[in-house]
Amino acid sequence: MMIYLDHAATSFPKAPDVAEAVALFLNQAAGNPGRGGHRLTVAASRVVEGAREDVASLLGGDPERTVFGPGATFWINAVLASKLNAGDRVVTTSLEHNAVMRPLRWYEKKRRIKLVTIKGKLPDGVPSTDEIVASVTRAPTSLVIMTHASNVNGAVMPVAEVAQAVSPVPVLVDAAQTAGCLPIDFAKTGAAALVASGHKGLLGPTGIGVLLLAPWFDIEALVQGGTGSRSESHEMPEHLPDRLEAGTVNTVGAAGLGASCAWIRERGVEAIHKHGRQLLQRLVDGFRGVPGVYLHGWNPDTPRVNILSFTMRGKDNGELAAWLDRKHGIMVRAGLHCAPSAHQRLETFPNGTVRVGIGPFNTEADIDALIEAVFDAYENGIA
Ligand code: ALA
Repeated sequence: MMIYLDHAATSFPKAPDVAEAVALFLNQAAGNPGRGGHRLTVAASRVVEGAREDVASLLGGDPERTVFGPGATFWINAVLASKLNAGDRVVTTSLEHNAVMRPLRWYEKKRRIKLVTIKGKLPDGVPSTDEIVASVTRAPTSLVIMTHASNVNGAVMPVAEVAQAVSPVPVLVDAAQTAGCLPIDFAKTGAAALVASGHKGLLGPTGIGVLLLAPWFDIEALVQGGTGSRSESHEMPEHLPDRLEAGTVNTVGAAGLGASCAWIRERGVEAIHKHGRQLLQRLVDGFRGVPGVYLHGWNPDTPRVNILSFTMRGKDNGELAAWLDRKHGIMVRAGLHCAPSAHQRLETFPNGTVRVGIGPFNTEADIDALIEAVFDAYENGIA
């Protein structure tokens, strides 16, 4: 038996058409998009541009300002590299992933930026809009960067409210855990930029992610090189997406991502979100009947994506997760989830938690199996 409940790390299975789209691309369309004019180049361009349209329309972005890259981490780094200067003040939250915290700490140390981390209240650690706005208005601020939803407890942040309230200070949204899981209309958020990875809620392959830019916000290219356009120039072309897409784009990833986004659109993000919330509630209710289980960062009143962190009294998180896989075929992720700051805030540092990430293909039976397995751990131990 295999029950995959680690969708916050990556989705599995992928959307139904992804593998076929990838194979079809490799077998029939694997030219280099935008380079030259032969049939395979045209076919590849069509696939990549189609994927761009698909992902932009799913997230409410302008396709021309939707840029492909290796992942959300890459784009966070690119935005920071472009925007931060020595002495700048940056506001962030205590629920951020290392994709945000590590570069910010580096800039703090090496470029002497002033980093302000807003500590949201427990149980979920989500700062209020007012707390963030108060901090931004206290001193000139170059950038606000915040996760859309924590990868540790799934709590959703008020990114649109913050973006609108702090305007014109730009807000960068890390939507790694929400894209494809929660309806997003980037254009309406008022945020300057949003990054998302293709392989989580967007149900596509790894190695591809997107940056969405508002019409009023731009960044310098972190990487420069060939684009297939303006080849006579020694400088990057001015126009997007080319200016930010040096080197051959991940065409295979784009083929998969285009297929997954099309599938998500057909199923509906709202429906996916609702399904996940129902399963999450079933899990929370079921865990109430299991002695020794403690939920972390859980606040029934906070909007959330389908992630739940728990620990079990007297059990090591890593051993429990390994045992759930070994004995019950259930895959979850234990530890710090690349988010030590979030665990510090939720008071689960340094041992972390066992994290459940629910995806669109999970069923009530999967959730019931997890509840029973954890009950088995309580009754019979995990040896
Ligand atoms: N960021 C991924 C996670 O939360 C890998 O597990």
